[in-house]
Amino acid sequence: MQRRPIIVVTGANGGVGFGICHRLLVQLAQRNPPDASPRLSSPDAHITHSDSPNLKYEPAASTGATVIMACRDRKRAERARGQLLALLDAHIAKLDARSADGVHARAFRENVEVEVMYLDLSLIRSVLEFGTELAQRYPYISHLICNAGVAAFSHLGWARFFKQLATAPISSVEHPCYNIQTRGVRSKDGLGWTWQCNVFGHYVLFRTVQPLLAAYSRTGSEPSPGPARVIWMSSIHASPVYEKDDWQLTDTDLAYESSKYQNDIIALELSSRALAHQKYTRNANGNGNAVVDGNDRAHQGAASEEEAEGEVLHYLVEPGITPTNFAALLLDQIPFGRFFMVLLFYIVRLLGSPHVLFSAYHAALAAVQAALSAPPLPNTLAAQDHHAMPKYGSQTDRWGYERLGVAETRESAKREGEGRALLQRCEDLYRTFLAEYQAGAEGEGSR
Ligand SMILES: NC(=O)c1ccc[n+]([C@@H]2O[C@H](COP(=O)([O-])OP(=O)(O)OC[C@H]3O[C@@H](n4cnc5c(N)ncnc54)[C@H](OP(=O)(O)O)[C@@H]3O)[C@@H](O)[C@H]2O)c1
Repeated sequence: MQRRPIIVVTGANGGVGFGICHRLLVQLAQRNPPDASPRLSSPDAHITHSDSPNLKYEPAASTGATVIMACRDRKRAERARGQLLALLDAHIAKLDARSADGVHARAFRENVEVEVMYLDLSLIRSVLEFGTELAQRYPYISHLICNAGVAAFSHLGWARFFKQLATAPISSVEHPCYNIQTRGVRSKDGLGWTWQCNVFGHYVLFRTVQPLLAAYSRTGSEPSPGPARVIWMSSIHASPVYEKDDWQLTDTDLAYESSKYQNDIIALELSSRALAHQKYTRNANGNGNAVVDGNDRAHQGAASEEEAEGEVLHYLVEPGITPTNFAALLLDQIPFGRFFMVLLFYIVRLLGSPHVLFSAYHAALAAVQAALSAPPLPNTLAAQDHHAMPKYGSQTDRWGYERLGVAETRESAKREGEGRALLQRCEDLYRTFLAEYQAGAEGEGSR
């Protein structure tokens, strides 16, 4: 049986984040969770397992779990917590209490904790405080799911909408060009708001909980569920549509799409470093000599102390397109806006789009399968390609049967090296905020 998973989900009180928590609990309550054995809809020969082929993996069945809902509004989060537990209870109530599944699920339920913790990604101090409190309360974290996301939508561009609908109806849902965003919105910290909530806030969160992730990976025994996993929520909209110097995305009309691209290349860079570190350690352990190739050496140079502490698997996932509160500001400007959106989604799915899903539970498929798969889903590409990684997507066929899709993600050829530069900028800024936070904490302590 598995060590108790302790899973942090950001933006867990609604939309896809709520779906992730719901799906995690329902899956973990099963003796043989189907999400622990994902099957790719189109098996891709280029992706390979990065983990040790000799490691024995334990089944994903769990005797309990802790899910930490990291949310900015305590009231909304407490309400969502109640709904989650009610959904889990309803799921368990359907199982025959005398069957092996029923017995397992009821024992699991006795040992489930769903906690709400305050986290506002638009305020870095809150992210650092979150990390401090987490370290006081838990010995390790098994999964960090960086799900929360925002876009500074202002209004619908009707002319663009009708033109795209008439000329490319599927694209009008998959890649809408009519959701107009406000430029230059700043966070409470004075940084680009979309950038901070979607990119930097999650980077700081990852850095803050890195010792807890490493603690989980380090103490792994065999059979093992594998190292701790960090799951970065991307989008099929991710696109490098900003000037390279505008890295806080304050001078672009497409800050959302750009922030998701930045998430992709940060995950890619972190994953490359983790893999290089892993390979380096294995070589060193295998023959006493650390043998590294040129690519590895470059990454070794960049490895932080925390990276050396324990390996972490990074995954990129996207939830497809699903009705949530994400575009509420736009839809609520139109009478029956949400109704028309769902209608359009149905039409587009019937026309053959695999990306439209109608429930957050289904949209959570990719994140939850990346979290629970045993052995871990591959997170690298063949031929040790350090500059590309798979992006797993929640998909469906036109009749609504869900499936796991996969696409290749790489840095745009014109922007090579951007991931490394961006990571360095995030790291420098993180250290500045951390120093201020620590100085503030010391000041308070000496008062
Ligand atoms: N829905 C889609 O079709 C779609 C498509 C592609 C990618 N995604 C991605 O999926 C993720 C979830 O989106 P969603 O559709 O579920 O949107 P949603 O319904 O708007 O949920 C977003 C979640 O993020 C939280 N959040 C927003 N700002 C935050 C902050 N400053 N600090 C902490 N939490 C914050 C929200 O909290 P509040 O409730 O307090 O606002 C909410 O819980 C996002 O990363 C989004 O980019 C969604």
